[in-house]
Amino acid sequence: MNNALPPQDKLRLDALLKRTKDEAAHMLGYPATHLLDFSPLLPFMDSSFNNIGDPFAPSSYRINTHDFERDVIAWFKSILHAPEDDVWGYVTSGGTEGNMYGMYLAREFLPGGIVYYSEDTHYSIAKILRLVGARSIMVKSRPDGEMDYDDLAGTLSIHRDSPPIIFANIGTTMRGAIDNLDAIKTVLKNHALHRYYIHADAALSGIILPFAEEAQPFDFAAGIDSIAISGHKMPGSPMPCGVVLARRSHTERIARAVEYIGTNDMTIAGSRSGIAPLYLWYVIQTLGVEGLRAIVAQCQTVADYTIESFSRQGIKAWRHKNSLTIVFPRQNDAVLKKWQIATQGTDAHLICMPHVTKTHIDHFLQEWRDAPHDCHSEVKTSQSSPCKY
Ligand SMILES: Cc1ncc(COP(=O)(O)O)c(C=O)c1O
Repeated sequence: MNNALPPQDKLRLDALLKRTKDEAAHMLGYPATHLLDFSPLLPFMDSSFNNIGDPFAPSSYRINTHDFERDVIAWFKSILHAPEDDVWGYVTSGGTEGNMYGMYLAREFLPGGIVYYSEDTHYSIAKILRLVGARSIMVKSRPDGEMDYDDLAGTLSIHRDSPPIIFANIGTTMRGAIDNLDAIKTVLKNHALHRYYIHADAALSGIILPFAEEAQPFDFAAGIDSIAISGHKMPGSPMPCGVVLARRSHTERIARAVEYIGTNDMTIAGSRSGIAPLYLWYVIQTLGVEGLRAIVAQCQTVADYTIESFSRQGIKAWRHKNSLTIVFPRQNDAVLKKWQIATQGTDAHLICMPHVTKTHIDHFLQEWRDAPHDCHSEVKTSQSSPCKY
């Protein structure tokens, strides 16, 4: 088939490429990264890959990458301390699908349960809870973005007749806060609540903490039932994707055999990308555990440098232990917009992803400092700095 584009459409594509490359050169505010040359995978873009169904079972649609998906899941299981035979997972379309899957499993396990999540939880949780039809209660956050465990305790004590489903943040979107699973389990124990479900939303930190020197407890070793991670954030892929892992006792509850696809329907989506698992596999194989450990260490160094650089300008910026998210006072919105920096109320954040260098930080800070309207002195006196890390 002749698929040559008309010249004006070719020009449009060229312009798109240029615009997005220019934008990528000053992207500091969102957790996306592009570490590798993926050109060896280009030949795979020519076929209709579809990973429909359970990646661990044979399917009648065989233009798939199920074997690569299984390797990806095995690798995530190993870094997340998943008991070998007790955990199942698949490659999702992103963190949101993984969180939805976790809430779906939780609701099937505890149909009358109440989902508890903190104020700082990702905005998609409200939509997910409506979709799965689960009862829920929003718990207060502390000023640094972590769940307020006193508020959790107070709320649970009024609802002891309903089993709790905890939606724990392992790195909040805006401030990188990690909910303390030990503190949560203590609250549950103190209320004699022994039947519960814990889901970890580890969209970004799920691939940082396994390589940190002193990681906060967050994975299967800490007693979670399921976990969702976004693959395009870290280790990075050109298309949105993610990974969800859950205890097999929960996933088996929802499995249904489907004759049409010749396998079990275990996932939320029907047709699923066969390309995304290939990209994740490629990153994992290329970098390996040691490569990722070195990258995370490098990001931590840039994060420290960023905080010191703000401090040299008299501005208090801060981050949680092991987080790459640097919170600083919002000002000079035009400069923040140029560097694609997310804001929320009086806070702004930048994220020291692997592509962010000290040079990026220097350029950004210089523009931010030299921007026409200067409200530094105002910020210095009004800012709150809840976390001293
Ligand atoms: C904490 C948290 N959870 C969930 C999500 C949603 O992930 P995704 O965009 O991969 O669907 C994000 C995205 O930024 C996030 O920060």
